Amino acid sequence: MSAPISFEAPRGMRDFYPEDMVWRNRIFDAWRAAAERFGFKNYDACVVESLELLQRKSGEEVSEQIYAFEDKSGRKLALRPEMTPTLARMVAARQSRLPFPIKWYTMAQCFRYERMTRGRKREHYQLNMDIIGSDEILCEAEILGAAVAAMREMGLPDTAWHIHVSSRALLGELLAKSGIPQDQHPAVFIALDKRGKISDEEIASLLRNEGLNDEAIAKTFELLAVTSLEGAAALAGEDSPALADLRKLFAMADEMGYGEILMFDIAVIRGLSYYTGIVFEAFDAQRKFRAIFGGGRYDSLLALVGGQPTPAVGMGFGDVVVGEVLRDLLGETCPIQRDGYLIGYMTDEQRPAALKLTAKLRAEGHKVDLSLVAQKPKHFFGKSGNSSALEAIYIGPDDLTAGAVQVKNLETREQRTLAL
Ligand code: HAM
Repeated sequence: MSAPISFEAPRGMRDFYPEDMVWRNRIFDAWRAAAERFGFKNYDACVVESLELLQRKSGEEVSEQIYAFEDKSGRKLALRPEMTPTLARMVAARQSRLPFPIKWYTMAQCFRYERMTRGRKREHYQLNMDIIGSDEILCEAEILGAAVAAMREMGLPDTAWHIHVSSRALLGELLAKSGIPQDQHPAVFIALDKRGKISDEEIASLLRNEGLNDEAIAKTFELLAVTSLEGAAALAGEDSPALADLRKLFAMADEMGYGEILMFDIAVIRGLSYYTGIVFEAFDAQRKFRAIFGGGRYDSLLALVGGQPTPAVGMGFGDVVVGEVLRDLLGETCPIQRDGYLIGYMTDEQRPAALKLTAKLRAEGHKVDLSLVAQKPKHFFGKSGNSSALEAIYIGPDDLTAGAVQVKNLETREQRTLAL
């Protein structure tokens, strides 16, 4: 006899039972509401992507985590680890026809063969919001504003989290001033992004492997000690374009009502290699959890996948970490929004009346959960707690005679009469 099949989902993958969907929907509803309110248009794509496209931006962490496979015709395919290369491909395919700048959003399931830690699964959903075709810093401000709106919609107080903002362009300017040549910057970014995950000695040895001498390595670490925009200005010079962009973003965030959430943090680098300008990552105020969302400007990716050079900025906002933060801050229970009716009946004689009432209420647009069997009132009301209905209607022989039923509010226990 073969071994019994496990009831567990494969490691790192998730099942969503109805009680889990309450949480997931709370997050998805907030994402959609915020993206729509900010004027983003919805798009979607297939989960399977060509491996070649994903590997074109190779040399980074994510490409090592790809779930890749060959189809029966030998095509090299993969489950997408992120949405951005697919978005770049879709935009490049219609580049001459799209009304740039475009603002698009999607809620995409992504797969990464990650080492499993808190906040990291091998499958997650990501809200992506991207603006393509504009180099205005207002794009960054709009994307962050929409993310803030989603967090507020989910019920997270502004004081519970921060958006850490920096700029690869600024760090690039500072590295150049320290004598580190431009062609080494991408490798330096990738090494510095590992800070906190590996020791500084290990980062130093990565930098050494990239050809940096001890003096350059020391200078690189010095740059990371900068804690404010003023500190960065002192090093970069007041005429730095990257600094001007950051200042613009902070001013706009103030005007848009979320300046308090933003903070400058030169240590934000991002693990993906395609970012070129402002980068950001959101964390809970206590830094207990991993990044809630992250993104930035990626002005070269369109050209990299074969399209026309086009400026772009966007973000990915996963469902896993924010779910943990929500539970941690707001408690385990996700209050269910009770609405609609639960309808039951005593014997098969009252069933026609129950079916007619159910049909009428449903036709009026109400949610109705109809009992599938005749039940004694004790059983019907005993199980009513499992339902998400707000009101319960139980039809017995006397109600048919009276031509009216009692409608019981399951929260307040109040009753009202409804004519049949
Ligand atoms: P990312 O930082 O790799 O960026 O992912 C964005 C967010 O997705 C993370 O902050 C986290 O919330 C979530 N996430 C990523 N990996 C996992 C995982 N294994 N388990 C659970 N959650 C995860 C990107 O993916 C970029 N493509 C975002 C972007 C869009 N940049 C521009 N446009």
